Amino acid sequence: MSTWIRRDHTVETQKVQTFTGEGAYHGSTKSKVASAPRPFDEIVFEARPRTLQRYIEHGITAIKEFDACFWNDLHLVNLLPVPTQEAVQDDGVTFCWCPFEVARREAGPVTQRVLDGMSRGLTGRKRYVYIDSKIQWFEPGDLPVDSFLRHVDGTIAVRDEERVKPFGATVLHDMCARLEHGDPPRYMAYQSSEHCATGFLDRPLRMRIPELIQNFNDFDVRVRRMSGRSEVTHCPGAILAYDGLTIHWANPAAAAGWRLWIRCTETDVEIVPSETMIQCYGTVFRPAA
Ligand SMILES: [Fe+2]
Repeated sequence: MSTWIRRDHTVETQKVQTFTGEGAYHGSTKSKVASAPRPFDEIVFEARPRTLQRYIEHGITAIKEFDACFWNDLHLVNLLPVPTQEAVQDDGVTFCWCPFEVARREAGPVTQRVLDGMSRGLTGRKRYVYIDSKIQWFEPGDLPVDSFLRHVDGTIAVRDEERVKPFGATVLHDMCARLEHGDPPRYMAYQSSEHCATGFLDRPLRMRIPELIQNFNDFDVRVRRMSGRSEVTHCPGAILAYDGLTIHWANPAAAAGWRLWIRCTETDVEIVPSETMIQCYGTVFRPAA
């Protein structure tokens, strides 16, 4: 299974789909298929749905709410010169859950410089370090993913039918377990361009949320109600560090142009992307006219 693709990027060959708002947050594919149940004890601690397990053990299906605090611990690792549009378009190689050292070996020149910058921000606390990246051409209004909901990355998402069907769900994100875990996955993100920037919260946000959620629709509404003026956007050329308790979202492109986006994930969870995932990675999503 390859975790990287080398190809020419042109405006004509940019993959475009109609925005639905229902897609995955980063995979740019539709919802993942249900997975087979795994024994609870075999799930790596970082991804263990401990709250859901408690519900199941006690036969409870009514989901409670709890007081959550998202630290939104966002900080600047490095600010790199903004590459030209031509340099972004010509950078060639993009990645999908690619091991960091493989990405360093295969990357184009702009991505190489970003990975050098990211290497200085690694915590070294997790078993795996992965790189995702996209080179995308945006028309005004296009989105880099099929969702603009406020969310956090690396949720403890459970998809096996046996566990989630009693809740009338196909997927459950165990938000309580994520909040209780002292060492969530760590991320760094880079983006190259002025015209399409991820939004982040950069101040702690306390709010009441359900312990288990099926999607981020209601979460997004609650965050918008609470967050006020602590919103920032990703400055071009910046490498930002954050973690699995940092709320962020995709903004539509304000103008046409190329963007290189790179994310580094440090996690204890081993991730093997599917072939369809890597083929779809980099699709842009265009709102229906
Ligand atoms: Fe995200």
